[in-house]
Amino acid sequence: MKKTLLRGRVLSFHREPQGPDDTDSFAYQEDGYLVMQDGKITGMGDFAQAGSLADDVTVVDHRPNLLLAGFIDTHLHFPQVQVIASWGAQLLDWLNNYTFPEETRFADDMHAEAMATAFFDQLIAHGTTSAVAYCSVHKGSAEAYFTEAARRDMRMIGGKVMMDRNAPDGLRDTPQSGYDDTKSLINKWHGRGRAMYAVTPRFAITSTPEQLNLAGALVAEHPDCYVQTHLSENRDEIAYTLDLYPQARDYMDVYQGFGLLNERMLLGHSIHLEAREIAALTETGAHPVFCPTSNLFLGSGLFDDAGLRAQGIVNGIATDIGAGTSYSMLQTLNEGYKILQLQGQALHPYRAFHWITRGNAVALGLEDQIGTLAVGSEADVIVLDARATPAMALRMGRVETLAQELFVLMMMGDDRAIAQTYVSGKPMIDKHDA
Ligand code: GUN
Ligand code: ZN
Repeated sequence: MKKTLLRGRVLSFHREPQGPDDTDSFAYQEDGYLVMQDGKITGMGDFAQAGSLADDVTVVDHRPNLLLAGFIDTHLHFPQVQVIASWGAQLLDWLNNYTFPEETRFADDMHAEAMATAFFDQLIAHGTTSAVAYCSVHKGSAEAYFTEAARRDMRMIGGKVMMDRNAPDGLRDTPQSGYDDTKSLINKWHGRGRAMYAVTPRFAITSTPEQLNLAGALVAEHPDCYVQTHLSENRDEIAYTLDLYPQARDYMDVYQGFGLLNERMLLGHSIHLEAREIAALTETGAHPVFCPTSNLFLGSGLFDDAGLRAQGIVNGIATDIGAGTSYSMLQTLNEGYKILQLQGQALHPYRAFHWITRGNAVALGLEDQIGTLAVGSEADVIVLDARATPAMALRMGRVETLAQELFVLMMMGDDRAIAQTYVSGKPMIDKHDA
């Protein structure tokens, strides 16, 4: 198949930056190139050393823009694309008043399919090439999600939500139907093309012990699948959970007791944690996921990134659409920076850009496939334009270093800064330079 060569300022991280001076953690080429063929990166280096180009190579010159690995979003809700920006409520009221009514609409397969198309369009426009999503309780919503991901050849993880109580009619499964539907979705989709499955009990409040027990059985039966849920996002949520599970030592213990914790587990939010819960994260290798725009929007609290990292825990970072307010991982970094500033934890742009690329890939155990630009990696590449808006261009007039440019991108950038998104080596945006 035909090769594509991208020329531009190539930036890729190969380990986590340890501080502002840790320039050995990444490779950066001012005039670099990447060759993509059959969905993989097959060559890269200095353009001056690219040699003579064969006739069957399409060259796309993206200079002066940056070429990075596509962004990875480790927690968001596909059926919430029409919930974003719903006013006034904190978590439990927001779920009951806005989110659950909206998710009931996904019983209609046609609606789910239309929303899946819109959802993937948004991810690509914002430079997100891989994500881990919750579908609705309806099996058809997961079908729509994986079908659309396959059509675009995207590496996507997701799962049908399991929820059998404390939710309206039309939005509950049963322990057995949740198990059966999940099992058949795993058998159909997990490992098919680039798709991977996440067993997805929504959270302790919406699952009976019988359901969490069967979720644990699925995790045991499918150890190569992911598992995702929510943990300690909101004080009222924690109190209600402990009422429902009075025998649990703490919120985490509910999930732990049913065998859900492992290194393939993603725990959205993980804000208000006890010392024992943090120790359980360290022991099991499960991953908290920081959702800054959501945590500010719902008034949930401040995620303690440094405190968790000091215990050897690998945190993900994510949008949490639709409590999150932007699909943009750049805007997610913007709000994340401010949350961490409030705790004296200034997030350096090197670590920030590592986090939304290779860092999230490490949390998923996929760093050999996505999140880096390396020969053999999957060819998900984005083109970033730090002068995308007049305000950014004005600010860029005073920028002298790569770190400063990255910081402008993460504080001021959004979908306008994504000049192109390549998925499996193919350009997916036709605005600037396709
Ligand atoms: N906890 C349980 N479900 C949800 C959800 O859809 N969004 C958020 N932010 N928290 C949750
Ligand atoms: Zn969520």
